[in-house]
Amino acid sequence: MIRVRRTIVAGNWKMNMDHVEGAALAGDIAAGLEGREPSCEIVLIPPFTTLLSVMSAIEGSGIAAGAQNLWYEEKGAFTGEISAGMIFSLGCRYVLVGHSERRHVIGEGSDILFRKLRAALSGGLSPIYCVGETLDERESGSAAEVVTEQIGEVLTGLSSEEMERTRIAYEPVWAIGTGRTATPGDAGSMHEVIRGVISKIFGAEAAEETPILYGGSVKPGNAAELLAMKDIDGALVGGASLDAGSFLGIVFPA
Ligand code: PGA
Repeated sequence: MIRVRRTIVAGNWKMNMDHVEGAALAGDIAAGLEGREPSCEIVLIPPFTTLLSVMSAIEGSGIAAGAQNLWYEEKGAFTGEISAGMIFSLGCRYVLVGHSERRHVIGEGSDILFRKLRAALSGGLSPIYCVGETLDERESGSAAEVVTEQIGEVLTGLSSEEMERTRIAYEPVWAIGTGRTATPGDAGSMHEVIRGVISKIFGAEAAEETPILYGGSVKPGNAAELLAMKDIDGALVGGASLDAGSFLGIVFPA
């Protein structure tokens, strides 16, 4: 099968790895790539304070870097926040928006995520917009409806150029950090739903071109079968991205 979309394997380090540990991990991942041709784009997403040391460790390796969060204003009296411009000026091109921990632990809703997504795009970044249902929503049969709403309420109104820079990550909340992964069939059918929603809003071509990553307990042992699904264009990896060997085992699935 020829994919029009390039696969992306992104490591979301969450609140792990200080700048010394992060440089070592990024260096080990870059060393593990030497002499090998990954078929995917690789993105490391460390905490803000670790970004610069990661970026110098991956220089020249072809690995890209991303940030985990941003604030939607350009600058000003927003103590503790970081703007898209600050992230862009580091040479960083990706940013997560709407990660389940931001939605459910920090309490960010669609209004704030809408603004963050637009701020990321106007700041020149490629947002990885994360969506996913909770266990209750899955068990009550409303998973597809919830995910459809999360996509529509934040992405509607983007220009086609902005949509081209946007990536989606489907991460069922019940699969994040739990060791419980969606089956390739369940994940694949939700990816199909998502592509259908994008097609309705932006047209079939945009839907075909948008990378949709799966996240939630991805590890070397399950990556190959998930990535083999036709609508799964990569992985957003949490726990297994904190070890060079297991992250590389996902980049180069057996
Ligand atoms: P996990 O996290 O791989 O540890 O489940 C995924 C994520 O939260 O992006």
